[in-house]
Amino acid sequence: MLARRTGHFVESVIRDMTRLSLKHNAINLAQGFPDFPAPLLLKQAAANAIMENFNQYSITWGAKDLRDEISRKAREYNHIEADPETEITVTCGSTEAMMASMLALINEGDEVVVFEPFYENYGPDAAVSGAVPSFVPLNDDNSIDEDTLESAFNRKTRVIILNTPNNPCGKVFTRRELKMIADLCVDNDVIAVTDEIYEYILYDNKKHISIGSLDDMKERTITISGFSKTYSVIGWRIGYALAEKNLTSAIRKVHDFLTVGAPAPLQHACVTALKFPDSYYRELASMYDGKRRFLHRALIKSGFKCKMPEGAYYVLADIPEGTGMDDMAFAKYMVSEVGVAAVPGSSFYKSEEGKHKLRFTFSKKDETLQEAAKRLAHLNA
Ligand SMILES: Cc1ncc(COP(=O)(O)O)c(C=O)c1O
Repeated sequence: MLARRTGHFVESVIRDMTRLSLKHNAINLAQGFPDFPAPLLLKQAAANAIMENFNQYSITWGAKDLRDEISRKAREYNHIEADPETEITVTCGSTEAMMASMLALINEGDEVVVFEPFYENYGPDAAVSGAVPSFVPLNDDNSIDEDTLESAFNRKTRVIILNTPNNPCGKVFTRRELKMIADLCVDNDVIAVTDEIYEYILYDNKKHISIGSLDDMKERTITISGFSKTYSVIGWRIGYALAEKNLTSAIRKVHDFLTVGAPAPLQHACVTALKFPDSYYRELASMYDGKRRFLHRALIKSGFKCKMPEGAYYVLADIPEGTGMDDMAFAKYMVSEVGVAAVPGSSFYKSEEGKHKLRFTFSKKDETLQEAAKRLAHLNA
C-alpha cells in the first residue's frame, strides 16, 4: 500500500534518541539544539512582527526585506552575488531548502555523491527525490582521498552534496579541497549542493569558504544556510537557498507547492538577526569554543577517543574499547544507565565504521555539560 520511496529510509534516529532521553530523564547530548535562550532582541523582533500584523503569507519565495538582507550577507560573508529578486528562496529551514533542491535537480536514478560521515538527512533527501547515493569516505584524519572522490563521478552523477563545517565530524573544507571538488563538478557537469548551516561556528582561526564563490561555480552551486544554528532559533524553521536564476526558478516551484512559504513574522525577525554586529558572531564562536574544549576533555577522561572538531557543535567519538557493544547497544546503555543521550554513529555512515562511534553535541548550557561530564565520569569508575 505504501510508496516504495518510504521503504528506503527509517525515522530519524537523532529525534528517536531525544524521545529516549526524555523517557530516562537523561541529559540530551543527542539532538543539536541549544537549551539556552535565543537572543532577546530576536525574540522581541518576532513578537513585534506578530503585533505589527505580519501574520499572513509573505511572498512565497521570501519576504523582500529578508531577501535583500540575505543578499547583502551573501556578498559580504560568502563572497557570492545573489540577486534577491531571482536568486534567493527563503524556505522552512535549510532542511526544506535541501529537499526542494534535490527535487528540483534529480531525475529517478541520477547519482549523488555524498561524503561519509554525513548528516543523516541526506540519505532520505536522496531516497525521496529518487537519487542513488554514492558515498565517499573521508580519511581517518578527515582529509579527502582524491582518487576515491574522482572515481565516484560518472555519467549518471548529477549532484555532489557538501556540508562545511561538517556535522558530525566537524571538518571545515579547505580552499584547496573545494577547488578540487569544483574542478570535478565542472569536468563532469555536476551541481554542488552545499549545506553551510554552521558557517559561523568555526574554531582555531579556521575560515569558512563557500564553494559557490569559486571561479566557474556560481552557475553550478546551490548554497544552503539558515538561521537555526547561528541564532539559536532551531524551532523557527527559516532557511534559504542561493542559486543562479534558472536553478532558483525550479527550486521556487517545488518550494511553493511544498510549503507555500516560511513563517512570515519570523522572516521579519530574521532581518533583525542579519543586522547583528560582527561581535555577535565572534562571541558565538568563542562561547562554543569553550564548550567544545570542555566536552572533548570530559569524553577523553571517560575513555572515549575523539578529535577536536574544527567547526559546528558536535564531537564524534570512538566508543571506549572493551565494552563489547556496538553503537546502538552502547547508546541505549548510555541513555538508561549513565544518563547521557548521544547519537549512534551508524546514523552518519553507510559503512560499518559508524558502529564504533557516538556523536555528542555541546550546544548546551555550561551547567548541562558539567552534569553530563559528571555522569560520563562513571564510565571510567
Ligand atoms: C548539517 C545540518 N544541516 C541542516 C540542519 C537542519 O537545519 P534547519 O533547522 O535549518 O532545517 C542541521 C540540524 O541539525 C544540520 O546539522
